[in-house]
Amino acid sequence: MPMKIEPLNTDFAARVAGIDLSQPLSDQLVSAIEQAMAQYAVLVFRNQPMTDDQHAAFTRHFGPIDKGLLVGSKRKRRLSNPDVIDLANVDLEGNVLPASNIRNVSLIANQFWHSDSSFKNPPAKYSILCGMELPAQGGQTEFADQRAAYDALSDDMKTRLQGLVAEHWAYHSRNMLGGGGQSPEEMDALPAVQWPIVHTIPESGRNSLFVGIHTREIEGMGTAEARMLLHDLLEHATQRQFVYRHEWQANDVLMWDNQCTLHRGRAYDLSQLRELRRCTTEVVMQNVV
Ligand code: OGA
Ligand code: MN
Repeated sequence: MPMKIEPLNTDFAARVAGIDLSQPLSDQLVSAIEQAMAQYAVLVFRNQPMTDDQHAAFTRHFGPIDKGLLVGSKRKRRLSNPDVIDLANVDLEGNVLPASNIRNVSLIANQFWHSDSSFKNPPAKYSILCGMELPAQGGQTEFADQRAAYDALSDDMKTRLQGLVAEHWAYHSRNMLGGGGQSPEEMDALPAVQWPIVHTIPESGRNSLFVGIHTREIEGMGTAEARMLLHDLLEHATQRQFVYRHEWQANDVLMWDNQCTLHRGRAYDLSQLRELRRCTTEVVMQNVV
């Protein structure tokens, strides 16, 4: 069966059928997926069980792997493949963690609207998230189209944002939740980075907002004014008309472009197992001539 793309909205989020992600992909299929990503920014693949190695191999078709917060971390890991980020609320033996366990701070931080690794240079391009065990209630994942959000800004706001640069910091979200127990080495490994608040996505030529919970300052602006502008932009950018909510089924795979979408997990009963695993690619910086 050839690959089939079924849009869930005009140009945001699509379901893809007729492909087996566990198998190596032809160049033709890789470029068909890249084209679909350029148009829809979020793709949903149903019923795609994969091993961690297959998950990482699928991801590597699209660029070098981003390791997120694993950089500089000496924490023991449950998964042996270093390219796969473990998003399960379990301990090293696979038992559900007590709600108050420090690891839940990072998992709960995923319930803020964010773009993966926007606090890194290079930042994340595509994230590929496999859902394995999902709670019966809650725990959905939502995506907000930052191209549509940009397009819907007033002309005055578009002009105001021209040239503005925001600072993104990995631990801003954790600190908002009372602190994630990060070590000085982990903090040193991820100093804040700066990105324009509006950028153009090379694959589609569309402008996109680039804000989210990791942003904490704007260059050349006082902290209070900057935080309120970032807050207002985030509120604008995550209105329901820009959002796709994914109701998980086991073995769903979601793929999204972090450069033009925000996402967040939704709350669930922390005593329930929720197991997802993610692989992510880095943005490949174009050489500026
Ligand atoms: C992620 C993430 C949200 C969720 O995998 O990067 O933010 O629903 N996940 O778990
Ligand atoms: Mn995320």
